[in-house]
Formats: sequence, structure tokens, C-alpha cells
Amino acid sequence: MLDIQNLNAGYGEMSVLRSINLTIGEGEIVSVVGSNGAGKSTMLKAISGIIKYSGSITWKSESLQGLKAHTIVNKGIIHVPEGRKIFPDMTVVENLMMGGYLCHKDSHRNLEKVFALFPKLAERRTQLGGTMSGGEQQMLAIGRGLMGNPKLLLLDEPSLGLSPLFTDVVFGAIRTINNNGVTVLLVEQNVYQSLNISHRGYVIETGRIVLTGTGEELLNNQEVKRAFLGM
Ligand SMILES: Nc1ncnc2c1ncn2[C@@H]1O[C@H](COP(=O)(O)OP(=O)(O)O)[C@@H](O)[C@H]1O
Ligand SMILES: [Mg+2]
Repeated sequence: MLDIQNLNAGYGEMSVLRSINLTIGEGEIVSVVGSNGAGKSTMLKAISGIIKYSGSITWKSESLQGLKAHTIVNKGIIHVPEGRKIFPDMTVVENLMMGGYLCHKDSHRNLEKVFALFPKLAERRTQLGGTMSGGEQQMLAIGRGLMGNPKLLLLDEPSLGLSPLFTDVVFGAIRTINNNGVTVLLVEQNVYQSLNISHRGYVIETGRIVLTGTGEELLNNQEVKRAFLGM
């Protein structure tokens, strides 16, 4: 579904991603795990057309190179950025509607789907986004992404800074979203929980993919255990 070949990207003179190869099949949850600064967010920014890159990113056999970010969104590739980036002075419903602006006809139905997934958001529908807890804001950010009818959902560190309880809620929701037919690319520092819900994973270190395998293979890998799981 998404095919990344020899991707190189960075900021100005600084190169961050080096020869990344990665594929995502329809229906999969694929995770990219690695430490802070490894290049995970940079990879998602390249896919969603926010930064320039060399190499190729193809979506259903069509190149995404040079396309504007909104064109990529229209194809169903939806990026939930790191740090949530919700609108603090808008209510829960208004925040969600901002994610649904592309598909008005589905907005009402999608809103109900988001509320079914996150009942807490339904309870808080008139609350201002900025007054919600970190975990609630993360649900809102994911919900806003779902409003755009994603085929591929790009999730950037959805568990960052969340309590164990909210972390479980978020990972459970990712599973449900995937069971409902959405392909997911998850980038995370929470290596255990990410690999645990993923069909396949990649380990990224200073801009390079150093390991790949099924979620289970990576969880049982000695290097992964030593570097990320403290075993
Ligand atoms: N906007 C930016 N301008 C310059 N350098 C950046 C920018 N964003 C990230 N970087 C640098 O790129 C590298 C990779 O960052 P990032 O992709 O955010 O890593 P990760 O998401 O894995 O923590 C880091 O060295 C970071 O400092
Ligand atoms: Mg990041």
C-alpha cells in the first residue's frame, strides 16, 4: 500500500534519514520504534508532504514526491502529529469538525464513530480542548484524524507523556481502529506496547533502519530487549 525506497531527508544541510526502506501492507499496523531524535517524526513528515526528500514514497503505486500536504490528505493519508496540536480554544466537537472539513457528508456519521471509540469525548463534547488532560487531548487528536476518513493513519508518539491508564486506552483504541479497516503506521518510544499491537515493526537508530521483523520477533530479539526493554 505504501512503499518507501531509499528515502533520504533532513533539514537544510543536516541529513537525518539515510536510505530508509519500509513497506506497509493494507490492513497492517506497522510500528517504527527508536529513541528520541532517531528520525521518526521526520519520516512521518516526509510521507505527509511537510518536508522535501529524495528517494521514493509511493502510495498504491503512485508517487507522492512533490505533492502538496493537502493533496496527500485527500488520498486518505492522515497524520496525527506529535504533541497532539489540538485547538485549545475550541470545543471537543469543534476540534473534531476541523478534522472532518474534507468530507462534510460523512461528518455526522464519523462523529458518532469517534464517540463510540472514545466515550469520554462524547461526555466532554462542549468542553474546550485546552482544558482537557493530556490523555483526553490525545484521544481528541486521534479522533480528529479519524474524522478525515483515513485509509492510512500516521500516529506520532500517541502515548508520549500519558499515564499507564491512558496509555492502555490509546493502544486499545489503535487496535480497534485497525480492526475497523484502517491501516496504521505508528512511531513510538514505547517499544513494548507498540510492538505488542503491531503486525510488523522496524527499529530506527540515528536515521537508519537497523532491524525489522514481526512484532513478536522484535520483542524476542536480544538487541531490542537489551536496548529498549531493560532486559
Ligand atoms: N525542524 C527541525 N529543524 C532542524 N532539525 C530538526 C527539526 N526537527 C527535528 N530536527 C532534528 O532531526 C533529528 C531527528 O528528529 P525527529 O525526527 O524529530 O526524531 P524523533 O521523532 O525520532 O524523536 C534530531 O536531531 C532533531 O534535532
Ligand atoms: Mg518525534
